[in-house]
Amino acid sequence: MFEVLPQLPADPILGLSTAYKADSNPLKIDLGVGVYKDEQGHTPILTSVAKAQQILLAKEDSKTYITPQGVPGYIDGMLQLLLGKGSKVLLEDRVAAVQAPGGCGALRILAELIKRCNSELTVWVSDPTWANHIPLIGNAGLKIETYPYFNKADASINFDGMVETLSQVKSGDVVLLHGCCHNPTGADLTPAQWQTVLEIAQKTGFIPFVDVAYQGFGDGLEQDAFGLRLLVDNLPEVIVAASCSKNFGLYRERVGLAAMITANTQTRKAIQTQIQSIARGIYSMPPSYGGALVDIILSDEALRSEWVAEVEAMRTRMQTLRGLLVSKLVEKGAQQDFSFVKQQKGMFSYLCITPEQVQEMRAKHSVYFVDSSRVNIAGISKGNVDALASALVSVL
Ligand code: LMR
Repeated sequence: MFEVLPQLPADPILGLSTAYKADSNPLKIDLGVGVYKDEQGHTPILTSVAKAQQILLAKEDSKTYITPQGVPGYIDGMLQLLLGKGSKVLLEDRVAAVQAPGGCGALRILAELIKRCNSELTVWVSDPTWANHIPLIGNAGLKIETYPYFNKADASINFDGMVETLSQVKSGDVVLLHGCCHNPTGADLTPAQWQTVLEIAQKTGFIPFVDVAYQGFGDGLEQDAFGLRLLVDNLPEVIVAASCSKNFGLYRERVGLAAMITANTQTRKAIQTQIQSIARGIYSMPPSYGGALVDIILSDEALRSEWVAEVEAMRTRMQTLRGLLVSKLVEKGAQQDFSFVKQQKGMFSYLCITPEQVQEMRAKHSVYFVDSSRVNIAGISKGNVDALASALVSVL
């Protein structure tokens, strides 16, 4: 039976780690997969997470199944983090939610839910979007189309193009938006642009699907929720996927959240049963461990403050690295203007160079990043920025 299937090419993002590991050059640089790294290139366990692990170890007394919804405290804590304490939709009992195995798990079960609601609708994604959005949503059997988002020519958001396309989206279609720290470009909407997106959604009746994978890595935990909260507070229905991979550094524990803002409590109750039955039909229930850690952190004032400070430290380090790369490129005499890298937010930037130049960086200089020219800013360090800038200037 299996011989009918061909071998597939490596994943465009995760495959980079394999190629990087296989490279014997001691000066190789990894700007591929989106994981936070310290100056030594290590992805540490956050101190708040390490403390929560000790607490969990001491108090956990059973490994029996958790509920299909997940760890209750995790869901409450995450909804408040995303939607804000005292959020109107929480008070109105309009939010259905389940813990999911990572942001990917959340995106996939939400895609399945969308299909149960209407298998004919189109999901609109930004051009470009995170490479894995397409299989996660498309493999559920949904039709995907793109709306313009980013102009590579001048490294800026093509907001006019975005507005023009979204204004023609059919009522009931779904529009996937990146809550903050757009992956792959790092180019985020301004508050005024979010307001325009809200007005288009109100006019056309499209349903926003907001993916929040980097809360806290842009301008701050509260600031990064601005767009999401604007939509949630002013529309009857919003779909939300969230991830704790990056801001809690819980990558391998697979901790995510799928939430649906519904028009009323009755629908909320129905959707809660639907999303749980979707999860039951795929993986039954989420793993408890990572959710339990997040619950411990978010519900303990001291641990929470420690975590907030750790997120802040990761954010400011990435901002510093952005500045460092831009000034190094100027120092090395780059003919191209890369100052946009400094304005962008979060973990990624599009360098706006060609796939051939990216491949040359890999082949000649052992610098690894995605063919689209997306770099993981956290992979830059004071120790490698000089070599990185020289390599980049040499391929321009
Ligand atoms: C990334 O975009 O690099 C990360 O979100 C890891 C992944 O799964 O692609």
